[in-house]
Amino acid sequence: GLVNTRDMFEKAMSGGYAIPAYNFNNLEQLQAIVQACAETASPVIIQVSKGARNYANATMLRYMAMGAVRMAREMGSEIPISLHLDHGDSFELCQSCIESGFSSVMIDGSHLPYDENVALTRRVVEYAHAHDVTVEGELGVLAGIEDEVVAEHSTYTKPEEVEDFVSKTGVDSLAISIGTSHGAYKFKVAPGEEPPALRFDILSEVEKRIPGFPIVLHGASSVVPAYVELINRYGGNLEGAVGVSEEQLRRAASSAVCKINIDSDGRLAMTAKVREYLANNPKDFDPRKYLGAGRQELIDLISHKNRNVVGSADRL
Ligand code: G3H
Ligand code: 13P
Ligand code: NA
Ligand code: ZN
Repeated sequence: GLVNTRDMFEKAMSGGYAIPAYNFNNLEQLQAIVQACAETASPVIIQVSKGARNYANATMLRYMAMGAVRMAREMGSEIPISLHLDHGDSFELCQSCIESGFSSVMIDGSHLPYDENVALTRRVVEYAHAHDVTVEGELGVLAGIEDEVVAEHSTYTKPEEVEDFVSKTGVDSLAISIGTSHGAYKFKVAPGEEPPALRFDILSEVEKRIPGFPIVLHGASSVVPAYVELINRYGGNLEGAVGVSEEQLRRAASSAVCKINIDSDGRLAMTAKVREYLANNPKDFDPRKYLGAGRQELIDLISHKNRNVVGSADRL
C-alpha cells in the first residue's frame, strides 16, 4: 500500500538525491506519474492540494491513489508511493486526509506568527504520528507570483529558528524558503538574462543547525522554455515565464533537500501538447487523443526529471 516518507527520506539523505513530489488532480496526470516512476524505478510522492482534492472529489482521490499503487505493482514495479497533502492549511484538513488514507501531510503554518506555527504544527504531528503518517512543516514564506521583490530578505527562512521549530514540533521534514516561488513566473529577468541563484548560503546554514534533517524545496519547476514556446505558438500568452534551472535543482538534490515539489512543469507540459494537438488536428474531438498527447509528454518529462534532475531513478 501507500507508505509514509520516513524511509524514502532516509535513503535520499544518505544517497545524495531527492524524492520527486508531483502534484496531480486528474487521471492522466496520475497515470503519467505512475508509468514514468515505475519505468525509471523511482520512489515517488504523489501530492494533492486542497484545491485538487475539491476538484477531483476526496473519495475519488483516495481510490485513485490506491489504484496508482496497484497499477505500479501490475507493471512489475515495487516503487514506494506516498500520498501527501500539499499545503494543508488547518488541523481539520490534515485530519480528514489522514482518515481517508493519506500517508503524509504538510501543515503550512508559515504565514502565521512563529509560536502559532509551532502550536498548529505540533498538534498535527501528534495526530499524524499516532496514525503512522509523516508531517512536513514550513518556515519562511515563498514569494507570491506577483511579488516584485523575490529577493526580499524577510521572506527567507531564518536559520536561527529551524532547530527550535523542529524539536518543538516533531516534524519529519521542513520546507524552507531560499528564493523559489510557486507558479510559472518565479523571477523577473530581462530576455536572455539569467535568473538569480537560489540562496544556497541559507540552505547550508540550515544544514549546519539540523544536520541530517530532511529539507523540502517548494516552487521547484524549471518552467521548461520549450513548453512556454509551444504554448505561446499555439494561442497562449505566457510572456515572462521563468523557472529554476536544472543545474540549481541538481545542486539542491545533492544536499539535505530530500523532496522537490513539481507542479507547474507538469501543467505546462500537458497544456503545450494539448494546444499543439488541437491546433494541428482541428477535426478531432476525442479527449483520448489530445489528453493522450499531453499524458505522453508528461511521462517523458517525469522520466527526465527522475533521471537527470532529482536523481531518484534506479533507487530501489
Ligand atoms: O503549491 C501549490 C501547488 O502547485 C498546488 O496548486 O492550489 O492550484 O492546486 P493548486
Ligand atoms: P511549482 O509551481 O514550481 O511547480 O511548485 C509546486 C509546489 O511547490 C507545490 O507545493
Ligand atoms: Na538530497
Ligand atoms: Zn508548494
